[in-house]
Amino acid sequence: MFIENFKVESPNVKYSENGIESVYFYETTELVHENKNGTYQWTVKPKTVKYEFKTDTNVPKLGVMLVGWGGNNGSTLTGGIIANREGISWATKDKVQQANYFGSLTQASTIRVGSFNGEEIYAPFKSLLPMVNPDDIVLGGWDISDMNLADAMSRAKVFDIDLQKQLRPYMESMVPLPGIYDPDFIAANQGSRANNVIKGTKKEQVQQIIKDIREFKEANKVDKVVVLWTANTERYSNVIVGLNDTTENLLASLEKNETEISPSTLYALACIYENVPFINGSPQNTFVPGLIDLAIKHNTLIGGDDFKSGQTKMKSVLVDFLVGAGIKASSTSTCYL
Ligand SMILES: NC(=O)c1ccc[n+]([C@@H]2O[C@H](COP(=O)([O-])OP(=O)(O)OC[C@H]3O[C@@H](n4cnc5c(N)ncnc54)[C@H](O)[C@@H]3O)[C@@H](O)[C@H]2O)c1
Repeated sequence: MFIENFKVESPNVKYSENGIESVYFYETTELVHENKNGTYQWTVKPKTVKYEFKTDTNVPKLGVMLVGWGGNNGSTLTGGIIANREGISWATKDKVQQANYFGSLTQASTIRVGSFNGEEIYAPFKSLLPMVNPDDIVLGGWDISDMNLADAMSRAKVFDIDLQKQLRPYMESMVPLPGIYDPDFIAANQGSRANNVIKGTKKEQVQQIIKDIREFKEANKVDKVVVLWTANTERYSNVIVGLNDTTENLLASLEKNETEISPSTLYALACIYENVPFINGSPQNTFVPGLIDLAIKHNTLIGGDDFKSGQTKMKSVLVDFLVGAGIKASSTSTCYL
């Protein structure tokens, strides 16, 4: 059976006018060891970790700023949200397709919440806690290419042509802000599209990103901003003692305009200063030790180490299998966030 919404009655959950406070006890184990005449004696002990959660029930007006807005992911996410918001339908080879959020964990999945008279009861994932409706998200961001989002969508070749035609008027006026470009950190073939870059020292570039976030917030009257890295995967930056191993060293290196600070670390630094969550969608080491320490000091959320989940993960696993079986695979992919 399926229910639309529910309330929790538990000594561990408290509802108030603006929020929900809950306590969760996580049961795990801890190992200790003792050295007995040169050999270690290991003991496993049960351990309870107490977590306290506070959820604001007032859903904010949310802005999402994408680093790499004009890429395949950025243009597809933008077009997908607009198509849903505007209720667009389009002709494919087979039928008329209506925009929907199928495949979205929060918007399309359900979760088992318990049983009633022996029957399992499910509720929509999005009813578990107050969540932003993706249709209401204001999108913006940066790209080292100044191509508008309508042209970027055509270049990405993800959407059916009829859908592209209908989205074009909404996306033509969307132009990414100049991004931080450092050819040393991404593939050389990106050089030809880098016509929209922030000039100046690394410190000045961080200051510009801070200014961009503030202006975006103000212009769109959003309560909260989340920054998502969906730009090209960077090479690993070297973690060097004295350079980026502690917050002090990282900030001193920024002052000295050291080369070994990646663009993604610079965007993340700006976000930490602005107390804006920074989510990494590419598998690079943006979060060097000095940056992690700074995020902890500022109590700012940083997270993520790749978008690879769902279909992309399946493809990665399958390609490995196919190549192992002597079959050459060819595929284009984009992630539907
Ligand atoms: N497409 C997928 O299926 C998929 C799946 C999982 C992870 N990812 C990761 O997501 C990232 C983006 O994928 P995509 O397919 O959209 O790539 P893409 O090449 O189409 O887009 C990347 C965009 O980032 C821009 N860019 C590069 N460096 C920048 C910088 N420093 N600042 C601002 N903009 C910058 C580029 O101009 C480009 O428009 C990649 O790192 C990829 O590894 C992609």
